[in-house]
Amino acid sequence: MFSPLQAILFEPPHQLTILDQLLLPFETVHVPIRNLQEGHRAIHTMQVRGAPAIAIVAVLALVVDTYAAHHTFPTVDSFMSYLDKSIRYLQTSRPTAVNLFEATTRLSRELNELAYPSDSSAPTTTTTTTTTTTVGQLKRALLEYGQAMLDRDIQDNKHIGQFGAEYIEARHLDRQAILDGLTATTPIHNPTYTVLTHCNTGALATAGWGTALGIIRSLNFRSIGRIHVYCTETRPYNQGSRLTAYELVHDKIPATLITDSMASALLASRPMDAIVVGADRVTANGDTANKIGTYQLAITAQYHGVPFIVAAPTTSIDLKLATGAAITIEERPKEEMLSIYNMRLAAQGIQAWNPSFDVTPACLIEAIVTELGVITKNDQGVFDIKGFIEKHR
Ligand code: MRU
Repeated sequence: MFSPLQAILFEPPHQLTILDQLLLPFETVHVPIRNLQEGHRAIHTMQVRGAPAIAIVAVLALVVDTYAAHHTFPTVDSFMSYLDKSIRYLQTSRPTAVNLFEATTRLSRELNELAYPSDSSAPTTTTTTTTTTTVGQLKRALLEYGQAMLDRDIQDNKHIGQFGAEYIEARHLDRQAILDGLTATTPIHNPTYTVLTHCNTGALATAGWGTALGIIRSLNFRSIGRIHVYCTETRPYNQGSRLTAYELVHDKIPATLITDSMASALLASRPMDAIVVGADRVTANGDTANKIGTYQLAITAQYHGVPFIVAAPTTSIDLKLATGAAITIEERPKEEMLSIYNMRLAAQGIQAWNPSFDVTPACLIEAIVTELGVITKNDQGVFDIKGFIEKHR
């Protein structure tokens, strides 16, 4: 029987386990997350990774931590002060994906509103506030928040999958019609879709289904397997060859692995319907931080006239930042690039630069697929992301 991949397993309120992605594809090992420190470490060392999964594991780590038997919170203030400190600690685990910051900031706001109903700002001292809310209610609200994140992420991904697949189908018809000199409404039977993706944006990077890989999954279902996927290795951490390839093989979706440096040669030599990637942070103008190597794919997509599509839930959109220039790009330890599985690859003595993400300017992006729909550019050639969200939410 087909069983979908699950990176995060949660049995409320005490048991959280994650699939250790450092060991994939060779070993399938689930590791427990019992407290904040284990949650922080799992995110920082990338046992769990991918923008939505990072945020979910951070919040669920907070749930299991606060529900642990040894934790007693005598007052609402003591609980809220622990929550605040814990959130600040979790936010130091990885800097680029906005989902972690969005989820924990919203959580803090919601629990503060519950704890201090008449005064939504947290108290400045821990002793003077009166409230009718109990610690039990706050813990339950935290638990419900974490569970809702898991459920919502899968639903959002299914919507992203559907919107994205429809978009690629429509673009395929347009492009085929131009090639054939037909009108865009002429039916073309049984098309085969070819798409390229980068990094891992699938079930392993989310609560399930995935974003960019979710679009590919949806397209595979809708076209009854008439799809061919190219995935990049995604050096230096190989999320493509280790994780995306694993997911594609698991789902029996026809796919071919390429090294990152083969992308332009691939686009020059065979038709491609779209390049579909995920996002760690999309700023108000559409600039998108994603796995290192995304930017060069967008450049080659434009050169070869291939639609370049970003798939992201609205929780990955950061309207507070005007452009991508303001995004903090994480630099990972250089050893992660110089060695693989502790085997040294590079010449001793060489220096290394290892940014984990790059920023693709909005001008290279054709569409941003969210759970609310597909954001395309307006008549001025710019994305109005804020306007789109306000209209569709
Ligand atoms: O360093 P990683 O593996 O966490 O980077 C993951 C990516 O860049 C993904 O494309 C992004 O987080 C979107 S996952 C749905």
